[in-house]
Amino acid sequence: MVEEMANDKVEKTSELQWGLLCRGEFSQVNGIILQKKVCDCWDKIWNFQAKPDDLLIASYPKAGTTWTQEIVDLIQNDGDIEKSRRAPIQLRQPFLECIKMTKIFAGIDEANMMPSPRTLKTHLPVQLLPPSFWEENCKIIYVARNPKDNLVSYYHFQRMNKLLPDPGSWDEYFETVLAGNVVWGSWFDHVKGWWKKKDSHPILYIFYEDIMKDPKCEIRKIMEFLGKNLKEDVLDKIVYNTSFDIMKKNPMTNYLNEITMNHNLSPFLRKGIIGDWKKQFTEAQNKQFNECYEKNMADTSLSFCMEP
Ligand code: A3P
Repeated sequence: MVEEMANDKVEKTSELQWGLLCRGEFSQVNGIILQKKVCDCWDKIWNFQAKPDDLLIASYPKAGTTWTQEIVDLIQNDGDIEKSRRAPIQLRQPFLECIKMTKIFAGIDEANMMPSPRTLKTHLPVQLLPPSFWEENCKIIYVARNPKDNLVSYYHFQRMNKLLPDPGSWDEYFETVLAGNVVWGSWFDHVKGWWKKKDSHPILYIFYEDIMKDPKCEIRKIMEFLGKNLKEDVLDKIVYNTSFDIMKKNPMTNYLNEITMNHNLSPFLRKGIIGDWKKQFTEAQNKQFNECYEKNMADTSLSFCMEP
């Protein structure tokens, strides 16, 4: 009872703090909208020195990055849950181009302080990735998600995360997205750019929907890409510990202690399903988006599953 009251107080205090925070400011690097603080120190990010044994997890925001990160960390630790719970995911795997409100240094500083082998995260479009990742031939895992669920997830994330712009109403956000005015750029350019790059670089390109439908198969793919060989029971353990329900309860993967996020507005691990867009898109928006999709995807072999 006392504990419950204490938790309630903490929640109310953090909600109050969240209410007092201002939204971040934004600017552009080569036409891509990024946090202003990131743009201000862009040279430092662009000149980041990758190492040959770095592993990079890249994605468009809300594509299933955290899910992939936790899978990778468990594979690297042979399925040992205690090891994977050593720290929150954002500290285990630095987020390259992220500058928190409460910190003066960016993810690259965390990366620079970290011993090798390092696993890093980025949402940068392929053309903005620091060149040293290509020069050092680093392994990269790119995770992509169907655009409709991806954008619905992004909308709710922008509502709850003060590091990002206020998305306004869903209808307003939908227009913003079609105009390509989102942080980290257009979904179309992002997924197509990384898809093309995999022809000339060691990139494992995976899909949220595939992990959802057959997690063990995708986890095995990642394991092989990392050059590991884990037994079947370890793979089963990883499937279980990276399921939505377990990750939602895991304080090391649910971002509950981030002061910029208000989980009462929308939890970080929100629904974790395929097809949630059907509840958000109007019929007219669906038609308009389908036309936009056809037009933008005409020049790629990449395709997405949008149905559960
Ligand atoms: P929803 O908002 O649709 O629920 P990212 O990590 O790139 O920010 O992506 C977050 C999205 O991935 C959220 O989508 C979140 O719920 C979903 N997600 C995270 N872990 C998951 C898991 N274990 N299983 C299914 N979906 C997961």
